[in-house]
Amino acid sequence: MKACEDTNRLKGATMTSDDLLARHRAVLPSWMPLYYDEPIELVSGSGRRVTDAQGRSYLDFFGGVLTNMVGYDIPEIREAVQRQLATGIVHSSTLYLIRQQVELAEKVARVSGIPDARVFFTNSGTEANEAALLVATNYRRSHQILAVRNSYHGRSYAAMGVTGNRSWSASALNPLQVAWLHSGERVRGLLARLGSDEQVDAAVEDLREVLATQTAGDVACLIAEPIQGVGGFVHAPDGLFAAWKKVLDESGILFISDEVQTGWGRTGEHFWGYQAHGVTPDLLTFAKGIGNGFALAGVVGRADVLESVPAISFSTFGGNPISTAAGNAVLDYLLDHDLQANAARVGAILADGLRSAVGGLDCVAEVRGKGLMLGVEFVRPGTIEPDPAMTVRVFEACRAGGLLAGKGGLYGNVLRMGPPLTLTEDEAREGLAILVDAIRSSAEVA
Ligand SMILES: Cc1ncc(COP(=O)(O)O)c(C=O)c1O
Repeated sequence: MKACEDTNRLKGATMTSDDLLARHRAVLPSWMPLYYDEPIELVSGSGRRVTDAQGRSYLDFFGGVLTNMVGYDIPEIREAVQRQLATGIVHSSTLYLIRQQVELAEKVARVSGIPDARVFFTNSGTEANEAALLVATNYRRSHQILAVRNSYHGRSYAAMGVTGNRSWSASALNPLQVAWLHSGERVRGLLARLGSDEQVDAAVEDLREVLATQTAGDVACLIAEPIQGVGGFVHAPDGLFAAWKKVLDESGILFISDEVQTGWGRTGEHFWGYQAHGVTPDLLTFAKGIGNGFALAGVVGRADVLESVPAISFSTFGGNPISTAAGNAVLDYLLDHDLQANAARVGAILADGLRSAVGGLDCVAEVRGKGLMLGVEFVRPGTIEPDPAMTVRVFEACRAGGLLAGKGGLYGNVLRMGPPLTLTEDEAREGLAILVDAIRSSAEVA
């Protein structure tokens, strides 16, 4: 009898969300956090809406951390994956030709903006950055790297080693020698009080000084996010990457743009975040949205750099037939429906609405971001002291109001919005009303 009950429980037959939470806590590590005071299980989704195990539905402004880029249950993507499943080939390994992979690589190379590009597929953003760092360090025969404070690049030793955020750095072990540049932080820090042009000049001066004082000069690369995702959507003034690249080019230092969150038109104004800076990276890493939930990521870059791997290297699952079938369908959908233009149009409704309704509150330090990648930073009224408690109140109030959002920032005091790029104008207004309500009511509690 006991064995039978256990079997049913394991099959989920008697499962409630409460059971699931206890079972989660009993078997999964506590450093893998769950959102919300009462964590939720999402059991179905369609478009931009999801439903939890209690039957409550939510408008989703976080998309599984900017990953459900096109939305839930999109027929074109579902059918592409089903067609591949129906062939019986879920996996073959990259030892054999994979038509879906070649086709996706051709498309990614074409849209990357990098001339004569090569593409290597991985399963995650971490592995994509790991691969980019591998080729950059081999190409330059140097393990010195420039990285940016407040960045996040993943959870392997090298990716964590170039991550400038204490909360996400679980180990000091680092295969790389890293020197740190200032981020585009505008609320606090050394460059915060400067206007955009002065900030660019100061950041370039800082780069020259870091190169002269903290490196042996022969640095492999600079890795940077155009908008820092985990870092709370902090971004440098447009043009900074080009100004940095001028200095890097003097000694042949490569530039890696980590577009794991900013890619595929999310910023609205451009297809890639780097394009706001008037520069072309040597390597670009992508992940999250391109699979719309299927594990798909990679690095695209200059052929001579990507070819500089001096041994055999491959990824068992990277670019497998199923994930690349999804990736092809996602990219086709994105381009056919011009989701970049939608991100610009619908993002403006949200950004303008947030700025006018809550931008003036003394607990809001900044409403920032681009396109459908928007953050609101909360501080103690009248100060620049981070207010993570206020952020949690807003975050919980959003959920109670039927909206899923994200959190982030170096101090956990930034509410993050990264909805699917298919978000409609009506949905943007609906979510905006919930957000404004949540922020105003949470500010009153303070
Ligand atoms: C900018 C950036 N780079 C890399 C990563 C790591 O990606 P993954 O979690 O797929 O390994 C993330 C994940 O959030 C990210 O935001």
